[in-house]
Amino acid sequence: MCAALTPKSGILEIEPYRGGEAGAPGFERPIRLASNESALGPSPRAIAAYRTLAEEIHRYPDGGAEALREALARHHGLPADRIVCGNGSDELIGLLTKAYAGPGDEVVMSRHGFLMYPIAAKAAGAEVVIAPETNLTADVDALLAAVTPRTRVVFLANPNNPTGTYLSSDEVKRLHAGLPPQVLLVIDAAYAEYVQRNDYDPGMALVAASENVVMTRTFSKIYALAGLRVGWAYGSESIADVLNRVRAPFNLNAAAQAAAVAALADVPALDRAREHNDIWRPWLARELMALGLTVNPSVANFLIVRFPGGDKSADAAFEFLKGRGILTRKIAGYHLADWLRITIGTEQEMEKFKTAFQKVVT
Ligand SMILES: Cc1ncc(COP(=O)(O)O)c(C=O)c1O
Repeated sequence: MCAALTPKSGILEIEPYRGGEAGAPGFERPIRLASNESALGPSPRAIAAYRTLAEEIHRYPDGGAEALREALARHHGLPADRIVCGNGSDELIGLLTKAYAGPGDEVVMSRHGFLMYPIAAKAAGAEVVIAPETNLTADVDALLAAVTPRTRVVFLANPNNPTGTYLSSDEVKRLHAGLPPQVLLVIDAAYAEYVQRNDYDPGMALVAASENVVMTRTFSKIYALAGLRVGWAYGSESIADVLNRVRAPFNLNAAAQAAAVAALADVPALDRAREHNDIWRPWLARELMALGLTVNPSVANFLIVRFPGGDKSADAAFEFLKGRGILTRKIAGYHLADWLRITIGTEQEMEKFKTAFQKVVT
């Protein structure tokens, strides 16, 4: 008798990641407010760059994504050799965890932190340790209290998805200062470009000053290239070296590289996306609060709204909206079953959302 084929321990404990729903029966083009995608769509320059690649797809991409790393380095004033690109920042989160944590190790995250972190930790065979939050915001003292001699990685989404809250750069510095040098601090700044707060910093200064900090970023959000999968990490020389050893040789496809370079160069498109968000996120918050609902303060391109329960539950609201072709995100998997997450859409989408939503609560 042979033993049955079994994966490594931890793998079957993984709850597969479920993305936001993309379809609503009866609606050819539903209003998609479920995945924190960009409201305005990609820069025309990025679309053009993507199209030019069509004739070249028999060629392997540049395995080092050099043009993109150089463009990012110029744009952000960083050394290009400490930037590593990934197939979305999800890939980098997975690679970092696999490289630094394994069986017997612990990975620390906060209670409502991004769900890729436990997936990455369990896939690496490590244990997930959850630190409580305060006011749906990562709590530095609680994160530090969760660190043990077995901790190898601490994840901080800043701002966090799905709560939309953030930690000031002083708080992030305090978190880092409390960590032993053998613990990797991953600052996941997927929504950094949306944040308009003087006390916020995506983490570049901390990376520059430390050996054990890495910042991850993405082109999926404000740059509107989610379908192409482009992320990047900036870390110490040794972290960049580790990532380059474990990543696949051609992890970023050629069209994604070209489109990302073009998107980065289109600064007016970035400004438009930010300005749009600055108008419509507060607008959405005001509309929801005017209906008597609780809205959690958000600095990103989405917000979460709380439902009183009973026949006015988040699930009922989700279904009602879906029936009208509007997709939002249920977040019970984040321990927020009474809440829905809503991504900021176009002006027209927001107006349609408002009209439909009024019937949810009245
Ligand atoms: C906090 C956070 N980090 C990372 C990601 C992953 O982004 P990417 O599309 O670059 O894999 C997301 C996407 O929703 C996110 O919300």
